[in-house]
Amino acid sequence: MAISMAIVTIVLSLGSWSPPPPPPLSNPPPLHPTGRRSSLASWEAFVRRAYDRIYRPFRSRCHADAPALECLEAMYAATEEADAPWWLRTMLRDARHAHAAILHGAWHSLASRRPTGSAVCTIEKVGTTNFRRFMALLQADGARGARGCSARPFASIHSVLAPEEGVAYTGRRRGHDEMIGALHGREGWSTFVFLREPLERFASGFEDKCRRNPAERHCSPLEIFGNGSRSRALRSHTSLRGQLAAYADTFPLSWNLHFFPQALFCDDLGRNLHRYSFVGRMNETFLQQMRHVAAHIDHCASSQAGASDAAMRAYRCVFPVKQDGHATHAKRHVSRMISAFSARRLLEIFSIDYVELELPLPSFLEELPF
Ligand SMILES: *[C@@H]1O[C@H](CO)[C@@H](O)[C@H](O)[C@H]1NC(C)=O
Ligand SMILES: *[C@@H]1O[C@H](CO)[C@@H](O)[C@H](O)[C@H]1NC(C)=O
Repeated sequence: MAISMAIVTIVLSLGSWSPPPPPPLSNPPPLHPTGRRSSLASWEAFVRRAYDRIYRPFRSRCHADAPALECLEAMYAATEEADAPWWLRTMLRDARHAHAAILHGAWHSLASRRPTGSAVCTIEKVGTTNFRRFMALLQADGARGARGCSARPFASIHSVLAPEEGVAYTGRRRGHDEMIGALHGREGWSTFVFLREPLERFASGFEDKCRRNPAERHCSPLEIFGNGSRSRALRSHTSLRGQLAAYADTFPLSWNLHFFPQALFCDDLGRNLHRYSFVGRMNETFLQQMRHVAAHIDHCASSQAGASDAAMRAYRCVFPVKQDGHATHAKRHVSRMISAFSARRLLEIFSIDYVELELPLPSFLEELPF
């Protein structure tokens, strides 16, 4: 009797059983040991530890005034004996390698003597096209060559500076970084550079080079990602987050200049940033900062040779409409592309930017379980 009752109970309860709903995918439970969401402070500690563990021992191999390439060589040699992540060795291999002189390529260092001496170092994915136009317009305007807003697209530093001005141009492709280095603090010249939040820059590079424009052949290594998001390695992932994570774990197999840390560009920014007259950031106030640079150039020119509004006119050509929404949009977008796992990998790699260039971490990291 008791047994048949039990069977009836089991059958009845089975009949009413239904599987529990799956946990929501968009909002994973936090992994933080306290059960709370992570604070930005724990991510900051992670980045600092990563830098101290991965980069600091190798950076200490460079003399304070060693030229950029000498420092890269010293760091690369050290990775042979010391314990370093594999991607640091490939990064330094490609940053110092002659074929990757792309990192030190002429197009990064732009200058104009008109209306007064100014030089900018540009970094891929940090408004390079705008700076190229701005500097070309400055130079053309002084020569009365600019018609309206059009100008030669490129004012390279060695086409602008005469050798007798005392800036050594070695003639090697790698010499341009050193030329901008020689202009810091020089009478009548100002130097400027703009930086971008590293995770945002990486996500923007991935979107541009791997998803939208793989035919440009910058989604490296090409053997794996040559077809962009149609490559087998990326097709396996249906979400953008998954694709970016797969790329974040493998892109250092061969480094492309759109993805090198910003600290290695421009005469070794990580060690020389403080020498620039103006350091801007490509964030919500980018346009105001750029306006400030233009006003500064005109101000210097006016005090030397009478009133000038050439830089402000060039500014209005390059930035004709308000683009303030752009930065905010990019920020929202990147937070949808990066997972806690890819954030860890990327923050390790770009810890050199956050620490040496003193960049704050993006606030969306607070939304990710640490
Ligand atoms: C890219 O696509 C072409 C044509 O479909 C194919 O032959 C090639 O193997 C693919 N390469 C990669 C790296 O996926
Ligand atoms: C944007 O960058 C400027 C210049 O570095 C900085 O002063 C400002 O605080 C930044 N704004 C935000 C919202 O991060």
